[in-house]
Amino acid sequence: MTIKAGVMGWPVEHSRSPALHGFWLKAYGIDGTYEKLAVKPEDLAAALRALPEKGFAGVNLTVPHKEAAMKIVDSISGVAANIEAINTIFVESDGSLTGHNTDVYGFITNLEVGAPELDYQGGPAIVLGAGGAARAVCFALMSRVPEIILINRTTDRAENLAKTLCGNIRIVAWDNRAAALKNAALLVNTTTQGMQGQPPLEIDLQNLPLEAVVSDIVYTPLETPLLAAARVRGNTIVDGLGMLLYQAQPGFEGWFGKRPEVTKALRDYVLGSKTRAAD
Ligand code: ATR
Repeated sequence: MTIKAGVMGWPVEHSRSPALHGFWLKAYGIDGTYEKLAVKPEDLAAALRALPEKGFAGVNLTVPHKEAAMKIVDSISGVAANIEAINTIFVESDGSLTGHNTDVYGFITNLEVGAPELDYQGGPAIVLGAGGAARAVCFALMSRVPEIILINRTTDRAENLAKTLCGNIRIVAWDNRAAALKNAALLVNTTTQGMQGQPPLEIDLQNLPLEAVVSDIVYTPLETPLLAAARVRGNTIVDGLGMLLYQAQPGFEGWFGKRPEVTKALRDYVLGSKTRAAD
């Protein structure tokens, strides 16, 4: 029987997940489909509840459903509860729905693969931004680094994030971001700055140690102005595409029963599909 999965969003057209899962389904010869499911916010509960009878093994969630879905599913994994958002749902054998968040896994796996030399204990990690993505990044880093320095344009939002995660997070004002880079082992951009159509992130890297790793979760373009500037001065850089690819692994394995691999061919395919989608 064909195994069904998909991604629910509104809008959902921009999602790369169908290309990504479609590549794996073909590569592993699995009898499965992964569809784009355009679901309005007011229809989310009904659409999720209909998954078992429609024969779905589960779905991914994208904008704007990641928080709302938490109130609808029957149980939530520990990581998702901490992040306060779910991006992956499994339909269990009894028809119940379990919600997970695989962004933490996606971020940290991408970082470990992209910068194996990173000494997590070597200094604070600087996280720029305080949205949903920053929440996953901070949660992933909290147990690994001595301190997270969280810097956001709107300080209140950073304070809220730190309060919710309740860990080794120190807030620094946006205007002091350049000075905060001193002694850092890692710098992560989770803001939308540097994304196609947005101005570059404004930050002077002069104080950043050359051993520090610089990562951007923006992946359009693959090399953001921040990553380009870091690479030129000699820092190891980790682009954001890998986070997207790795966060998809646990979902695919849960639905289709095969642990998929993240390969160069997959990266190239997803990048190519992006270009075609924009044509
Ligand atoms: P996500 O959930 O994907 O992280 P988000 O919640 O919209 O997205 O968060 C976007 C992040 O980019 C926020 O940290 C935002 O800062 P504010 O909290 O001050 O809005 C940051 N951001 C957006 N535009 C920015 C700009 N021009 N300069 C600095 N930061 C910006």
